[in-house]
Amino acid sequence: MPYDTITFALTDRIATITVNRPDKLNALNDRVIAELGEAIDSARANPEVGGVLLTGAGRAFVAGADIVELEQHGAVSAKALAQRGQDVFRRFETSPKPTIAAVNGFALGGGCELAMACHIRIASESAKFGQPEVKLGLLPGYGGTQRLPRLVGKGRALQLLLTGEMIDAAEAYRIGLVNRIVPAGDLLSAATTMLQSILANGPLAVAHCIEAVNRGYDVTLDEALALEATAFGLLAATADKREGTRAFVEKRAAKFSGA
Ligand code: COA
Repeated sequence: MPYDTITFALTDRIATITVNRPDKLNALNDRVIAELGEAIDSARANPEVGGVLLTGAGRAFVAGADIVELEQHGAVSAKALAQRGQDVFRRFETSPKPTIAAVNGFALGGGCELAMACHIRIASESAKFGQPEVKLGLLPGYGGTQRLPRLVGKGRALQLLLTGEMIDAAEAYRIGLVNRIVPAGDLLSAATTMLQSILANGPLAVAHCIEAVNRGYDVTLDEALALEATAFGLLAATADKREGTRAFVEKRAAKFSGA
């Protein structure tokens, strides 16, 4: 499928989606949001794809929503814009296939929100994070007010949201916004290695871990534990569970089929 503002490449079961508007620091205009939606849908639907790596071309991951476009929006169209972006980002978050953001540079506004919608974030040493929307008289509209406190805690989230300050990768790591920091030159290989280590595991188990965390997060602990027990029971009936336990007993690597 031809894309204008992103690239999509499939190698060894890893779909690499690269936001590709480097002259505008990969700012998210309508077209980018729509293409990210098409890309994650096609990755989710394609049986050849095991997981998704998301990154940016040039010196930015994504420097936010496109401010030139934002300037044109009124109340009704801006709400619809936020909902469209939220919907696309949610499809990354709820993907049964693991999604890793390889944050190569600025992850500001919608860029930080997009990274947070991925399951895991790996940052290059030069990455910068922030939610500067208040500087524009706005608030984050792609989930930032909700995912940031869930990731880093309410106090730290409010500090970032209210000051609009930019933080470096080391600080993002310290507060739990990113999982790992690596030298810039190692970013894609580190993200690929982590994704490959996930893809070596039972795909149904991985998918159900993602679902249990996502669905269990905002319900009562009792409801969440019930979800977990049901998923555990379901996985216990799979061929992959039989293969995984048998391989352990036979002291060999498991070969999962996803069934
Ligand atoms: N929307 C639209 N265009 C953007 C953009 C955005 N969010 N972020 C950067 N750009 C464009 C710039 O306008 C510039 O375009 P131009 O060359 O046609 O003038 C180009 O990308 C390069 O950005 P520039 O500002 O010159 O780079 P810099 O290194 O001096 O500064 C940033 C980098 C990230 C600090 C700065 O671009 C910035 O503050 N961007 C906006 C971040 C933001 O507020 N995001 C949240 C939006 S809700």
